[in-house]
This record gives sequence, C-alpha cells and structure tokens, in this order.
Amino acid sequence: MWDSRIPIGIYARLYASWKRVLREVRIIEGIFRKHGVRRIVEFGCGLGRHGYLLSKRGFDVLLTDIEDRRFGVAKKLPFKRYNLLEGGSIGVFEGGYAVGVITLFRYEDIVRILRNIKSVIGSGIFVFDYNFTPYIDPEKVEVRINGKKYIAILEENKYTQINGGLIYEYRVRVVDENGSTVGVEEASYTIYNKEEILRAIEEDGYMVKEIAWVSWDPLEYIYKPSDEESDSAFIAITPR
Ligand SMILES: C[S@@+](CC[C@H](N)C(=O)[O-])C[C@H]1O[C@@H](n2cnc3c(N)ncnc32)[C@H](O)[C@@H]1O
Repeated sequence: MWDSRIPIGIYARLYASWKRVLREVRIIEGIFRKHGVRRIVEFGCGLGRHGYLLSKRGFDVLLTDIEDRRFGVAKKLPFKRYNLLEGGSIGVFEGGYAVGVITLFRYEDIVRILRNIKSVIGSGIFVFDYNFTPYIDPEKVEVRINGKKYIAILEENKYTQINGGLIYEYRVRVVDENGSTVGVEEASYTIYNKEEILRAIEEDGYMVKEIAWVSWDPLEYIYKPSDEESDSAFIAITPR
C-alpha cells in the first residue's frame, strides 16, 4: 500500500532528489548496457526522474504508473497508465525496471506482478530494487523550498511479522513553518528475506541474471554501492 498526499514539489525534494535518482540510474544503466538492452519500460515511475535520466543517456523509455504523477522535465516522456496487478499490453520492450515498487507488495502479489511484467518484456531483463532489512527512518527531516521550511515528521511506524519477513507501516506528516499540515503519506512495505524474493522469482519461471548489492542510507535517503552482500539489492532477472 502506498498513498502519498504530499505536494509533488515537496515530495521531490524529500524523496526523489536527482542525486538519489542518478545513483540508481547508474546501476540500472550498467545492467542494461551489459546486455544490449535499449528499449525499456519503467513500472511505477512516480515523478519519472529515473526514466528522464535514462532517456538522456540514450535509452528509449516508456514511463508507466497506476497514476500520472510525472513532474517537471519527465512530462516530456511518453507515459501510459499501467496497473502492475492487472497487467495488459503496452508495447514491446527489451527490458523493464521498477524502483521502490516491488517492496509495496505481499508475496502473492509479487508473483502476480512478475508474471505480468514477463508478458511485457518477453525474453528481456527486468531490474528492481529490494530492501531485505528493517528501515531506521529519521523522526524529522527538514527541507527548504523557495525560502520556505517544511518538516516531514514520522508520526507512526511499526513492524509486523509475516511469513518470510516483516511488514513495515508508516505515516509521515509534512508541516510548514506555521505547523500547518501540507500533506500526509502512508505506506506499508514488505521486508522479505532474500530467500523469499528468490522463491518468487523462481516460481514465475525467471532466473537471476545478476545482483548489484547496495546499502540504504535512511538519513541521506540514498543507496550506497556495496562490494559485498548488504541490506538491499538491485536484482536483474530474465525468463528462464
Ligand atoms: C514509492 S513510489 C516510487 C516512485 C518512483 N519509482 C521512485 O523511485 O521515486 C511507488 C510508486 O508505485 C506506484 N504504484 C503503486 N501501486 C501500483 C500498481 N498497482 N501498479 C503500478 N504502479 C503502482 C505508485 O503510484 C508510485 O508512483
């Protein structure tokens, strides 16, 4: 579940900085280049910044999401509404990717989504990130936009045990300098262990092409590259 009612410009500063997006794009780009993939589709694109940077780097990108939330320059890119849980045909691609998306779903839905993605990418490559360990989110984050201060307050967060991992639920309230609410975001993420995610991949008839390990920095809100197995990964899979 992911429900964000934070105004898009503030959301961009808090959660989708160009620095964060560029880091992730470099990993995705490296994988696609190695395998000669050029025509790609992004699932759950949100603001569309990943796709924008990849298009600047020579990829032919279609952005998709259940809702059109494209922001700024990403509005120049083609977009189609696509619900990962429903699937459907949106074109022919050599590869696809999703960032911050697979973690929104429970095991059965991950299996369903990977199956739907397979019918979009054919024999191509799908890359997604996943965090295998609990998050340690900051209580407060301050940003300044056009001279105005906004504070994102972590109002509630809890973990619940499920088969194969945990569910992390949180609510963040963003207030302005007068303490008035400008937006609230509520979400729940699954935190399955590696074996569970590999089981879903296997169940859908994919094989792992490669894994790029990263570690999540919750304060900087960014992945850092890691030379060894770590808390999170970008996983590239392809149909067997
Ligand atoms: C945490 S945001 C990540 C956005 C962006 N990929 C990023 O990394 O900044 C999750 C995105 O998944 C999208 N989403 C949620 N459920 C979806 C579904 N069933 N099908 C497609 N997209 C979905 C949301 O609309 C949202 O844009």
